[in-house]
Amino acid sequence: MFGVTLAGGAGRMRAPKMTQNISGNVVTALKRANRVMIVTGAGISAESGIPTFRGADGLWRNFKPEELATPQAFQRQPHTVWEWYDWRRGLCAQAQPNPAHRVVAAMERFYHHFLLVTQNVDGLHARAGSRRMVEAHGSVWRGQCLQCGATLPLEVTPLKELPPRHEGCGGMLRPAVVWFGESYEPAVLQQMFAAAEEAQLVLVVGTSGGVSLPMDLVTQARQGGATIIEINSERSAVSRLAHERLEGKAGEILPELWHCAQLAYLVDEVRARAEQKGGRLLVGIAGPPGAGKSRLAKALAAELGPHVLVAMDGFHFNNARLEALGLRGRKGAPETFDRLAFELAVRAMRLAQEPVRLPIYSRETHEPVPEAFMAGQTTPFVIIEGNYLLHWPEVRDALDMRIYLDCDPALARKNLIARHQRGGATEEEAIRKFEQNDRLNRETIQATRGAAELQIWRDAAGWTVTRSDRQG
Ligand code: APR
Repeated sequence: MFGVTLAGGAGRMRAPKMTQNISGNVVTALKRANRVMIVTGAGISAESGIPTFRGADGLWRNFKPEELATPQAFQRQPHTVWEWYDWRRGLCAQAQPNPAHRVVAAMERFYHHFLLVTQNVDGLHARAGSRRMVEAHGSVWRGQCLQCGATLPLEVTPLKELPPRHEGCGGMLRPAVVWFGESYEPAVLQQMFAAAEEAQLVLVVGTSGGVSLPMDLVTQARQGGATIIEINSERSAVSRLAHERLEGKAGEILPELWHCAQLAYLVDEVRARAEQKGGRLLVGIAGPPGAGKSRLAKALAAELGPHVLVAMDGFHFNNARLEALGLRGRKGAPETFDRLAFELAVRAMRLAQEPVRLPIYSRETHEPVPEAFMAGQTTPFVIIEGNYLLHWPEVRDALDMRIYLDCDPALARKNLIARHQRGGATEEEAIRKFEQNDRLNRETIQATRGAAELQIWRDAAGWTVTRSDRQG
């Protein structure tokens, strides 16, 4: 009866496409804040294919709230109201969390004091991994018994019986959502406004401000001195209260913003450590195969400036090169290669009187890469990456800064299989290679993570630093 089709799921996530320049102020605000609140509305789920309320195809264009979303409407026609909710539940069940939901979940891991306030009832934030969250308007995945007041999970869709009943007491259930004319739970209100009052940063994502909650929270947060950043595809009632506005799709802007903020945070950490160490720094990035250590090393190098040397791990050294270096007999185990890269980097950085050319070989072709790096007395940073760097005490101790990059295993697997395929393997061969080689080392490598002073987690939301410092 409610014939709107889903615009298509949006679960996948790639490296952020740079859609707009995120201002330095916004990045600094994200990098520095400790107490953060995020307020989301229907716009964050739009790219998952769930219709918003007030836009061109919004639900309130086609349906009347007073017939479907008030306690009076439910009293008059519970069956019709439930039919409408069950249709919406079906849309939500088909939808996947999109990159914006995933970044919000990642932010929760980074900030020590964090609260997500969502007006959405679709359950997508929870499915993306958000936990420190208030679903201010309830959820279509719960029902409330009109007889005994119990709130119950309602996970099946479509529901077997409309209106559904509470098995325990036989009472009729209503959707556990907040309707027009109803008030928020006092405890929930208290929690939301306390978070607004103490927030240093508030991100307001994809809400028109058509109901008063986002405006009230933002007003409270502003009074408490918070920086307000709005992300919305157009201007909204919240816009005039925002210090910064990022106009566009939440699913594009949030990953880009998070990438910039995390990279900036990491660079600050590296620079701070370099200062402690008299300006020169040997950084090691370790972590399981497929985590993307090279990509992180290159991104850091690009941010740190022109005088950075990056030494990649052993795949870059072919036999001929090993021979030329007098190291032929040592090939074999992957850890030999890591050690080799390490030795070269140390030699280049510490022992060179004259600049040294570090041979870097392509992982794919085993040919030297054209921009072989120079290292010498003027090289302030050397970044070296390899699985086993934290495994050997002498290597671990020689590093000035130890970074451990961990990765969602499913993503690592996908990366590694794609890498084997780029090297010419069929899909089947690539999977076999992955099963044989790459997993072999994972446990040993993972055991070294505790030796790192900086840990990073990579998943569909990009890089997120695990912070242990600067609480408060
Ligand atoms: N990215 C960012 N913003 C978007 C996107 C997108 N991809 N798509 C739409 N938007 C913005 C729109 O510009 C609009 O400002 O999302 C906002 C959606 O506004 P509404 O449809 O009014 O939804 P919301 O603000 O969540 O409504 C609040 O009203 O009807 C009640 O209870 C219902 O929770 C809902 C509340």
